[in-house]
Amino acid sequence: QVAAASGHTVVLVDQSDEVLKKSTKGIEESLKRVTKKKFADKPEAGTEFVEKALKNLTTSTDAVSVVHSTDLVIEAIVENLEVKNELFKRLDKFAPEHTIFASNTSSLQITKLANSTTRQDRFGGLHFFNPVPLMKLVEVIKTPMTSQKTFESLLDFSKAVGKSPVSCKDTPGFIVNRLLVPYMMEAVRLFERGDASKEDIDVAMKLGAGYPMGPFELLDYVGLDTSKYIIDGWHSLEPNNPLFAPSPLLDKLVEEKKLGKKTGEGFYKYK
Ligand code: 3HC
Repeated sequence: QVAAASGHTVVLVDQSDEVLKKSTKGIEESLKRVTKKKFADKPEAGTEFVEKALKNLTTSTDAVSVVHSTDLVIEAIVENLEVKNELFKRLDKFAPEHTIFASNTSSLQITKLANSTTRQDRFGGLHFFNPVPLMKLVEVIKTPMTSQKTFESLLDFSKAVGKSPVSCKDTPGFIVNRLLVPYMMEAVRLFERGDASKEDIDVAMKLGAGYPMGPFELLDYVGLDTSKYIIDGWHSLEPNNPLFAPSPLLDKLVEEKKLGKKTGEGFYKYK
């Protein structure tokens, strides 16, 4: 959405036409929300902006067939190393020499993904934040193998889509999640111990620390499955780090498919 809205030609790839239809509809709705604010006094310019952005966006279920004309691939599939590596390995065979590969992963090592390809120097991390149309930050990750040219291209791309990039080494959680995820997990542990209700913890962090959302609202927003993937991955890397300890309550909710806002229920219920 943000790439298309900033004038880039985008092909959105997913596994089925049904998912792509749903995604395109979501993008259209989100564009309208952004436009309503941006073009409050000029609704016609707003309509034109949405139409232009949607014109830049096409969809496909066949990544291999579109990658041959792509300058940049941004992968944002399931947080599973084998599945991601299988995809990158396949695309690596069909992408042009100059094409840069980037992953939006928030929990896996970029180096491990880059190693599944023959283009380790043209591989980096581009980590966006929910909701991407509003959050201004992108973390740009340079592995020891990422070339300076690739790193600069990723910084330039981030600016070209209207974001402010920061850089971080290829370390677990980069900057934001390394601080945010242990904080959210501490909130879950506080609640699990019965020290305070989830509602009061959320109110406390909003009114006492000025956070726009409380930790339980944010967990539901990000997705409990995504949060669990992150914490489980870190726990397996550092089993003795108490900040990375799994939570029985989070595990139970994920097992019950209560994944947050997207499934209608997580820590809270949504209509
Ligand atoms: N697309 C377009 N516009 C959107 C939108 C979306 N997806 N979501 C919200 N908006 C717009 C709304 O339409 C609204 O516009 P309006 O003021 O003209 O009506 C405006 O944003 C404000 O929305 P709301 O009034 O509903 O709510 P807030 O004022 O609370 O703002 C928020 C929403 C920006 C999401 C704010 O609550 C916030 O900053 N929350 C914290 C988000 C955060 O921490 N994100 C990082 C998560 S970690 C992550 O993503 C990393 C990953 O690896 C896990």
